[in-house]
Amino acid sequence: MEKSLIKIILAPLQGFTDVTFRNVFADHFSDVDEAVAPFIPTMGKKKLKLSRLKDIAPENNKKIFTIPQILGNNAEDFIFLADCLRDMGHKKINWNLGCPFARVANKNRGSGLLLHPEKIDAFLDSVLSKISNTLSVKIRLGRLSKNEIYELLPVFDKYPLDEIILHPRTGIQMYEGAPDHYAFGEAHLLSRHSFVYNGDITDLSSFHDIRKKFPGVHRFMIGRGLISNPFLAEIIKGTAPNENKMNRLKNFHNDLFSGYQKIYSGPAHLIGRMKGFWSYLGPSFKKQEKSLKRIMKAESINRYKDVAADFFAAESEFLY
Ligand SMILES: Cc1cc2nc3c(=O)[nH]c(=O)nc-3n(C[C@H](O)[C@H](O)[C@H](O)COP(=O)(O)O)c2cc1C
Repeated sequence: MEKSLIKIILAPLQGFTDVTFRNVFADHFSDVDEAVAPFIPTMGKKKLKLSRLKDIAPENNKKIFTIPQILGNNAEDFIFLADCLRDMGHKKINWNLGCPFARVANKNRGSGLLLHPEKIDAFLDSVLSKISNTLSVKIRLGRLSKNEIYELLPVFDKYPLDEIILHPRTGIQMYEGAPDHYAFGEAHLLSRHSFVYNGDITDLSSFHDIRKKFPGVHRFMIGRGLISNPFLAEIIKGTAPNENKMNRLKNFHNDLFSGYQKIYSGPAHLIGRMKGFWSYLGPSFKKQEKSLKRIMKAESINRYKDVAADFFAAESEFLY
């Protein structure tokens, strides 16, 4: 497969890949082709949360083409939000059928809906004839069992979808255990839709493994792997220059910090957000446990800035 055919999509990670992250990321790294934004929940009674809409406003997302994602199971509320997104300029939207958390799934949202193919059928039947955006779905193999996928695929086959993004775990697996490549392979061959592979692409060798197993798949969604190693898309596409990595990471970090500083008024939110980022990026450095601990313990903005600067000033080695 030619490298130019490969598309890398930044996964939605609530609390991580928001508009600030996406824009700062695009300023420092290349080769991510698109993003799906973290979910916007339907709110019922025609209510909208403006901060959620700001995250996906096209004027704020000029650097990476971004598709909004909706979490919900009520057709009327979904249509209301889809229409609002269309009015903002979004021709494509995504439906979240993968969220694994019990508080979401127990209300038949996210991966909870995968137990009810008949509800998904009725939902798609009433929604797709009424919205003018095109729809993709982000799914898992099932909620409780990977065999649920076999009941779901014929339902999806009945409807026009942009694509199916499949993370080949079940909902109750959360992020434990290995993604089931065999089940992904079967599902994408049984369906008439195009599939996007998503799950545990963390380096070139995991990417090559997946690419070899599924030669018909050209679109790959990556989440945690791109936060742990922001060069990953460049590495996959063969454009990553080897030099200057620490400097690039430092500049990225500093811009991310400044970006969040403009948004968060209190230190707790700002530092909390940065610590989340470090929880993925930090382990990608060799011999940095002590400096990383200092970052994770920082409570004031000045202390955080000092220890983060020390981290980048130290002779540290980025593992990728
Ligand atoms: C902290 C966190 C937040 C997530 N938020 C979302 C979300 O808003 N919408 C969604 O569809 N998936 C969400 N996911 C799932 C990811 O999009 C992705 O499917 C999963 O992390 C597997 O891909 P990866 O191994 O490349 O990270 C989230 C995952 C994590 C770890």
